[in-house]
Amino acid sequence: MSTSPQSDPRVDQAAVTDESLLAVHEKLLGKQPDEKAHYRLMPLSLLFIFSGLIFFGGTYLGRFSGHFSPQVYNEYAQPPKSGVAAAPVDPLAQGKAIYANVCAACHQVTGLGMAPVFPPLAGSEWVTGSEERLIRIVLHGLQGPIKVKGVDYMGAMPAAGPGSGFNLNADKVAAVLTYVRKEFGNGAAPISAQKVAEIAAKEGSRGPWTAADLEKLP
Ligand code: HEC
Repeated sequence: MSTSPQSDPRVDQAAVTDESLLAVHEKLLGKQPDEKAHYRLMPLSLLFIFSGLIFFGGTYLGRFSGHFSPQVYNEYAQPPKSGVAAAPVDPLAQGKAIYANVCAACHQVTGLGMAPVFPPLAGSEWVTGSEERLIRIVLHGLQGPIKVKGVDYMGAMPAAGPGSGFNLNADKVAAVLTYVRKEFGNGAAPISAQKVAEIAAKEGSRGPWTAADLEKLP
């Protein structure tokens, strides 16, 4: 019998791996190799890939799903087959919507304003009179003393034209002015987008008007 450590059976046994031991025992017991005993954990790289995909998917839906609303713009939607041509925008309806959004906060839905701060548009000579003045008020704003229907006001109205906080373009200014000239029992002629664009181009960007400045205009 050799005494070299390599041939020591205990050392041989220590070198045996658990798996080979199991295999030997299974063989001895006449068992079929058990595939399930060799399962491995999911590789870490796959875990990262899947969490990355789930994170991307969640972020993507969060940003672009439009909250799954059916109202969201769908570029593949087909026009209705009924053959109805798109109705032209009604300036009065458009004007009413802009009035509700922009002007009603101060001049009220009724157009009656709120004395002594916000002058009325109903029956106002500034609304039914010169369109040169009226267009400029909405394009650039108005401040300082003004007499409306015999009552003195002293406030400031913000500009609503292009480049202002409300940034209404010529079409929208014309629509809202056409609306206020027609509504509230005013019954004055409509205002064209062309006229608004003309005045906007002529005046450029400028600060608010005063009633005294406006009264020099036709
Ligand atoms: C933040 C409040 C406010 C908003 C919004 C506002 N206005 Fe005014 N508006 C005023 C004030 C205040 C005056 C009086 C300014 C002054 O005293 O010089 C005025 C004056 C006027 C006048 C001249 C006086 C009169 O009563 O006829 C007209 C016309 C007018 N606004 C129309 C509009 C229209 C149209 C809108 C919407 C596009 C609008 N305003 C939005 C506050 C506002």
